Amino acid sequence: MLSLTPLQPADLDAVQALDLECFAGDAFAVRWWHKALEGQGAAAWLAREGDTLLGYCLFSRVLDEAELLRIACAPAARQRGIALALLNHAMTQLEQQGTRQLFLEVRASNLAAQQLYHRAGWHETGRRKDYYPLEVGREDALLFGCERPGDAGQLNR
Ligand SMILES: CC(C)(COP(=O)(O)OP(=O)(O)OC[C@H]1O[C@@H](n2cnc3c(N)ncnc32)[C@H](O)[C@@H]1OP(=O)(O)O)[C@@H](O)C(=O)NCCC(=O)NCCS
Repeated sequence: MLSLTPLQPADLDAVQALDLECFAGDAFAVRWWHKALEGQGAAAWLAREGDTLLGYCLFSRVLDEAELLRIACAPAARQRGIALALLNHAMTQLEQQGTRQLFLEVRASNLAAQQLYHRAGWHETGRRKDYYPLEVGREDALLFGCERPGDAGQLNR
């Protein structure tokens, strides 16, 4: 059974190992994991089956805004709905904690991630030309956003 939990100190090694596996050669700055653990401007959630870490997502937070910095699922566990469950869970938690605006940047070539964001209720809001480096040349970033109305919005629906 899938469990969705906030990042804990004991998870650090496993999360960093999965991050390295999913983003080869681009291991994310360790300081973000520590900020998430301290609840200082970042938040992270994990997906597990038993003791096995299958996915994680990491947000930076400022006031009522949050940016999705990373989401990944272990290669062997992809296309089973794990990232979608994790993202929906994180978005609900963030909303309960006061986040109203979500945003992210994604490579134009990353169609799997873009489909995931659409499935989770995000929409494309813009494009940054030549934002990401490639081995040869550069590629655009697509900008996505999602509004979370909170309790007031729920009452008005
Ligand atoms: C993007 C990623 C997180 C998706 O994880 P996942 O657990 O396989 O995704 P899910 O099974 O929850 O899929 C949710 C939706 O995303 C879309 N999706 C997922 N994988 C896809 C693929 N390979 N091709 C097209 N759409 C895909 C589908 O719309 C899917 O919903 P559906 O199956 O009901 O149609 C995963 O492929 C990954 O870790 N990629 C490498 C890291 C990365 O690029 N992260 C995003 C940028 S930070």
